[in-house]
Amino acid sequence: MLDLSAHELVTTTRAVRRRLDLDRPVDPALIEACVEIAVQAPTGRNRQRWSFVVVTVPDRKAALADIWRRGTRAGGTPMPEEDARRAYAKPGTMEKVFDGVDHLYRTLHRMPALVVPCVTGRTEGAAVVEQAGTWGSILPATWSFMLAARLHGLGTCWTTSHLHFEREAAELLGIDHERVMQVALTPVAHTVGTDFRPGSRVPVAEVLHWEQW
Ligand SMILES: Cc1cc2nc3c(=O)[nH]c(=O)nc-3n(C[C@H](O)[C@H](O)[C@H](O)COP(=O)(O)O)c2cc1C
Repeated sequence: MLDLSAHELVTTTRAVRRRLDLDRPVDPALIEACVEIAVQAPTGRNRQRWSFVVVTVPDRKAALADIWRRGTRAGGTPMPEEDARRAYAKPGTMEKVFDGVDHLYRTLHRMPALVVPCVTGRTEGAAVVEQAGTWGSILPATWSFMLAARLHGLGTCWTTSHLHFEREAAELLGIDHERVMQVALTPVAHTVGTDFRPGSRVPVAEVLHWEQW
């Protein structure tokens, strides 16, 4: 494990796209160790509805990467002005993100592992309280998985593009789409070097509201 303080761990776990070693295999035991940590995350009513699908077989990785690429090409909805202001606040940041996405686009199928965190339960049409309970019972675990990966010298990148075609990915991975939602897809690979820095963010004063918004 890397010798990182808790502060370093939570401030330097980045979306890693370029600095991933495509040629160094990842020991399955390391991924299992990350899932052991992930399942210590909070879970609504202690239901533990999480699952992690790990894909390492070349053909299946290639097929999943194809779905992801199509999703990436489909793009997202346009960013509201306020979000764009924050995203582009530091000149050059988004250019780097786009470069990274382009690299990931070309290399995703070559990653040693692709991990798809899932939650049992679907939220289409559900009340916000239900949605919060379901998403809130897998996203913290997903982030814990990524923190654990960083601790073990592995890089990850939270992505959601393949969810444009979630049903197709479910068929590929044998996931029961009626009962189980996929929530993300991350590559997992050893990082090239282990030094990462805090990301660029808008000032805390802009997002921290005391007593009322
Ligand atoms: C919900 C969510 C969806 C994301 N989707 C993608 C994606 O589809 N492709 C990608 O390359 N990065 C994706 N990212 C990574 C973000 O681009 C990244 O977190 C952001 O640019 C900040 O970079 P940093 O985490 O390294 O500070 C996603 C992150 C989140 C939290």
